[in-house]
Amino acid sequence: VRRFRYDHLVARMRKVPSAFSPVIAVDRNIAKPLYRQLYDSYRAMIVGRGLHPGQQIPSTRNLAIELGISRIPVLTAYAQLLAEGYFEARAGSGTFVCSTLPEQLAPTERRDVPSGGVRRGSRPVARRTKDLPTGVNSPWVKGFGAFTISHPAYELFPFQVWSNLVMRHCRNPSTSALNYGDSLGSEELRDAICTYLRTARGVRCDPQQVMIVAGSQQALEISARVLLDPETPVWVEEPGYWLTRRVLALAGCRMIPVPVDSEGLNVAVGIKRCRKARAAYVAPSHQFPLGATMSASRRLQLLDWAQSSGSWIVEDDYDSEYRYGSMPIASLQGLDSGSRVIYIGTFSKVLFPSLRTGYMVIPPDLVDRFLAVRQALDLTHPHLYQAVLTDFMREGHFARHLRRLRLVYGERRTALVDNLHQQFGSRLELHGAQAGMHLVASLPKGFNDQEIAKRAALKKLWLWPLSPTYLGKPLRQGFILGFGSTKAAEIPDHVQRLKGVLVAERVVTEQN
Ligand SMILES: Cc1ncc(COP(=O)(O)O)c(C=O)c1O
Repeated sequence: VRRFRYDHLVARMRKVPSAFSPVIAVDRNIAKPLYRQLYDSYRAMIVGRGLHPGQQIPSTRNLAIELGISRIPVLTAYAQLLAEGYFEARAGSGTFVCSTLPEQLAPTERRDVPSGGVRRGSRPVARRTKDLPTGVNSPWVKGFGAFTISHPAYELFPFQVWSNLVMRHCRNPSTSALNYGDSLGSEELRDAICTYLRTARGVRCDPQQVMIVAGSQQALEISARVLLDPETPVWVEEPGYWLTRRVLALAGCRMIPVPVDSEGLNVAVGIKRCRKARAAYVAPSHQFPLGATMSASRRLQLLDWAQSSGSWIVEDDYDSEYRYGSMPIASLQGLDSGSRVIYIGTFSKVLFPSLRTGYMVIPPDLVDRFLAVRQALDLTHPHLYQAVLTDFMREGHFARHLRRLRLVYGERRTALVDNLHQQFGSRLELHGAQAGMHLVASLPKGFNDQEIAKRAALKKLWLWPLSPTYLGKPLRQGFILGFGSTKAAEIPDHVQRLKGVLVAERVVTEQN
């Protein structure tokens, strides 16, 4: 295997900054001198904002080589642009578009054209994309701090170990590490994941059935493309995970909301609403957001339904690693004798979400279909972090980190539950605190969670409202409260702040 050493290149790159060459065309066959053509092109790009103030421009030598002309006209043009204040030279760093330019440009020379030109005529886009919510404007989506959901305890992550592994795999990559990889993902990582899933989650799997993907999100997307046609009826949990719904909306499916109770998805209602649904999207270990764990009888009912109606079950096992006060619950996939379950897992909750790495366990007869779809999307998962993750798992760091997180999240969760009880008594009803990194506190009747959440955000309290997780009319209003990223010692203060907000909203009184 060939290995590359490029430390010397990195060192050189640091010393000699280099700039992109702008799109400049010169023509030797026209009367206009070359230096003038260069000058005019640069000036036009600066005025038209194609080059922005402070941006570096290539050296005269590099530009001359790239354009295949002598250096003299380039030197002449640069000298003039410098003299007129379009360029500025910085000793030892190179030449830059002048950073104080915008104020100096005559207003008549500005062309405030939207990027991509003037928008005229009809501009059709797919109807399905129009139905998707655009942007993520709600303040709680961007907020970072107490009660935000999906944020693990970053401060506990073993960065030293991780960065050593990154360096190990960056320094001397093999040719195969740089090439396109297997569309299922790296075999070593699939193998490590199988060991973990068989042992810790009771999943039945072989590495040939595992596909490494860009988080659960991509797994949902690929599963929808393989299993579902437009207009296909699909069961979704009500309330449920909004990003599953986005995927299904984009696929043009007909979503059938099936209510969730303390035993998880109500299969009997699903059958009554649409027995012939093609698939059911469920999170049986820790339903999102209400947190129920699907009972054994519901699991068997769901598997029976899938077998008898020829349907699929997509199991989102996003945070089942964390259970408090009860034994771990094996996956639904592990109970399935009919190969009807597509199992999805993620490293977002156990490592960090920007890793964008998850996995799916696919029924063996469908692997080819999943591979065909994956190859149409992004071919394969980037190699570097697969290699890092493989060593992280094989060398025991993953198991150690998980053990630590379980303890710490257990403390955080207990602190949150105790403080909520102390401050609010039975005025806020708690749901789903037995597992995961969030719980739900539902509000008494008559309050609007989104309105309260907007006002709380002004005080930097990030409360995810419950009502948008319903496809139909919300049965409950409340907040999804994350506790993964807040230290146990800080929780009493944050609950006190929450009380301040809820007293102001007249949800509770000071005496509660
Ligand atoms: C229900 C559910 N599934 C999956 C995920 C994780 O998604 P991803 O792996 O794409 O980061 C989340 C994250 O919050 C979630 O709430």
